[in-house]
Amino acid sequence: MQNDFLWGGSTSAFQFEGGANEGGKGDSFYDTISKNSKLAQESSEGWMGLNKIKDYSVTSDFYHHYEEDIQLMAEMGFKAFRMSIAWTRILPTGDGEINQTGIDFYSDVFKTLKEHDIEPVVTLYHWDMPQSLIDRYHGWYGIETVEAFKKYVEICFREFGQYVKYWLTLNENNLTLKLPAFGTGMKVSKKDSFYNEFAYRVYHNTNIAHFYAVKKCHEMLPEAKIGCMIASSLSYPLTSDPEDVFMALKHNQELTYDYLDLLCRGGYTRKNKLEMEAKKSTIASENTDLFSNPSAKIDFISFSYYFSVCSGTEQSSADENAETLQMMYQALKNPKLKESSFGWTIDPKGLRILMNELYDRYQLPLMIVENGLGVKDDILTEDKKVHDPYRIEYLKQHIQAVKEAVDEDNVECLGYLPWGCIDLYSASGDRDKRYGFIYVDYEDNCKRYKKDSFNWYKNVIQTNGEEL
Ligand code: BG6
Repeated sequence: MQNDFLWGGSTSAFQFEGGANEGGKGDSFYDTISKNSKLAQESSEGWMGLNKIKDYSVTSDFYHHYEEDIQLMAEMGFKAFRMSIAWTRILPTGDGEINQTGIDFYSDVFKTLKEHDIEPVVTLYHWDMPQSLIDRYHGWYGIETVEAFKKYVEICFREFGQYVKYWLTLNENNLTLKLPAFGTGMKVSKKDSFYNEFAYRVYHNTNIAHFYAVKKCHEMLPEAKIGCMIASSLSYPLTSDPEDVFMALKHNQELTYDYLDLLCRGGYTRKNKLEMEAKKSTIASENTDLFSNPSAKIDFISFSYYFSVCSGTEQSSADENAETLQMMYQALKNPKLKESSFGWTIDPKGLRILMNELYDRYQLPLMIVENGLGVKDDILTEDKKVHDPYRIEYLKQHIQAVKEAVDEDNVECLGYLPWGCIDLYSASGDRDKRYGFIYVDYEDNCKRYKKDSFNWYKNVIQTNGEEL
C-alpha cells in the first residue's frame, strides 16, 4: 500500500452526531421522526422499509463527545475520518438564515481533526433532508430544493474549504431511482400512474445537485478533490446459463453503471434516455448544461461495500418488505457464500472484483468509504471489554482483498474507511446492529469503550496493512 493511504473510519450525521435540539439546528426528516410518534409508528411498520428507531435526537452524541472521539481515532492512528454535515445545522430551514453556531461547531471538529493529522472526508448530503424543504417542495422532487442545496454547498465550501480536502456529494445516490420517495414526504407507489415521472424527476434533480456541487467545488477550492458515493451491489450470475448471466449484467447496469456512466461520461446514456422517453419522460433533457462540463466531473469514486448478490431466472427471493435498503434489492442467495447474522453475504473477493471493474471502466481513483460487519453480538462485559473476533476476521479478509487489488491488480485506491468506526445507529433502524472498533453504551450516557478490534486495527494502520 502507498505511504499516504488513508486508513480511517466513517460515519454520518443523522446516525452519529446527536445534538438535534441544540446549537440552533433545524429539523431534518429524521428529527421529525423523533418528534412525531405517529410517523415513528408508521416507520416501525415498514414505511419505506426503514426506521424502527423512534428517536434520533442523541444517537452516539458525537456533538458532545467529538474531542474524546477524535482523540481515540488518533490513538488508532487514523489518517482520515468520514463524517457528514447536517444541512439543517448550517441552514435550519434548508435555504434561509445561516446558523453561525453550526458553522462554529463543524469548524471546531475540523480543526481538532487537523490538529491530530486526520483528514476529514466530508459527505455533503447523507439523507437528512431538511423538513422545511420536504414541507414546501417535497424534498428532491422540487427543483427549489436543488436551489437550496446550491446555496448550502457554497456555504460549506466557503466556510470549511480551509480544512477539508476530500468531499463527497450525495450518499448512495445510485439508489435514488429505486427509492425515489425517500425524503420527499410523498408516498408514491409503483402502481401509481405518476410513479415513473416522479421517480425520474427526483433522480434527475439529485443529479443536477451533484454536478453543481462538483463544479462549484472545483471553482472555489482548486486544491480539493470531490467524488460521488455509491452503494455497491455487485451481482454474479447464479449459474453459467446465459439467461442468468444476462440478468446479472442488467442488475449491475441498472444499479451501478447507469449512474456512474452519467457522472463520468457526461450525460445519460443513450439507453437510459430511450428508457425515459419510452416512459414518456422528457426530464432527461432539462437543465443538463452542466452534465458534460469537464469541471463538473468527479475526481474519484467512493463506495460502500458490504456484500454481493446473485441474479438469475430462478424465482427471486427478493423481499419487498425487507428491513434494510440493501436487502430491498437483494436478489438470489449465493450458495457458495456464508452470511452475516443480518443475512448479508460475506464476500471479500467480491470487493477485489468490484474494485477492478470500477477502476478499469472509469480510470478514476477509488475510495472505500463503507465496509464492515454489523452484528448484535457485541457484549460489554463486567470488566468493560468487548471481544469481537468475528469483526477482526471480516475486516482482515476485506483488507486483504483491498491489498491484492492495489498491489497485484494495480488499482488506484485512496483509502479504506470502514463504516461506523465508533458504534452508531443503523440506517435500517436497529441501534444494536453495531459496526465499531469502539463500543458506545447507549444505556449509560454514551460512554465509549475500546473493543478488541481497536488494538488490532491500530496495528494494521501502524504497519500500513502489512500485519493483519
Ligand atoms: C449504507 C449507508 O447504506 O449502509 C449507511 O450509507 C448505513 O448510512 C450502512 O448505515 C449500513 O447499513 P445498516 O442498515 O446496517 O445501517
